[in-house]
Amino acid sequence: MAQWYENWFDEDYLELYPNRNQDEARRAIHSILPLMSSMPKGPMLDLACGQGRHLTLLSEIYADTFGIDLSLILLKKIPYPYRSQAICANMLQLPVKPSSLSAVFMWFTSFGYFDEADNRAVIKKISKTLKPNGFFLVDLLNEKLIRQSLIHEDTIETDNYRFFNQRRLEGSILTKDVVITRKSTGSQRRIQERLRLYSPEEMTNLMSSSNLRLKLTLGDYDGNSFHPSSPRWIGIYQHS
Ligand SMILES: C[S@@+](CC[C@H](N)C(=O)[O-])C[C@H]1O[C@@H](n2cnc3c(N)ncnc32)[C@H](O)[C@@H]1O
Repeated sequence: MAQWYENWFDEDYLELYPNRNQDEARRAIHSILPLMSSMPKGPMLDLACGQGRHLTLLSEIYADTFGIDLSLILLKKIPYPYRSQAICANMLQLPVKPSSLSAVFMWFTSFGYFDEADNRAVIKKISKTLKPNGFFLVDLLNEKLIRQSLIHEDTIETDNYRFFNQRRLEGSILTKDVVITRKSTGSQRRIQERLRLYSPEEMTNLMSSSNLRLKLTLGDYDGNSFHPSSPRWIGIYQHS
């Protein structure tokens, strides 16, 4: 049976998250990248690059940037000429040479989609691709904030669609069921997102067993430090 993440990332996903756009990506790149000093030289990977909103900006700064994503539909949205810098692959079989990358970026909640063993395996694989002192940035939900203030139900309307969202948290698994109604026809599609939430401490344990040590944590895309009510938890790790 197909996994939820194999089918969900298409046009409907883009419609549900319209604020996840190029402007937000630009803010993040311009405020966070300067904080990653002493990066080794070499290619950079935008892992789970989606429609390429960070990839295109990173490529303007470092020509040697490439992207990987599983969704052909999103990859086809990457504008010319950057489309040729992205490949379709599963992060579980990361097709990258060991010790070849200066940095790996995982923007906007792209980690935690698998079971415990596979989530751990992804971190190990990422770590193997990094050069000594190479960076790994992972951008997650603020787990504590979700636990304190989970919105169990809401409806989001766009011009063409209605999204009815139901969320529940069982242990560390956040499940979101979405009913997507196309307003013109009334036709409905149901999808489910399933995410393993990690606390900062759990992330740092996971990383340290892969020789990645925490350099910095940020709480938003403007480069502000993390605090308990930050919208994001962005960990920047460096390979030893
Ligand atoms: C929440 S989106 C984030 C996309 C992008 N980083 C951004 O900020 O716009 C998660 C991305 O992970 C990709 N993805 C999901 N499972 C994957 C897998 N197993 N291997 C590679 N990419 C995957 C999806 O196709 C989607 O583009």
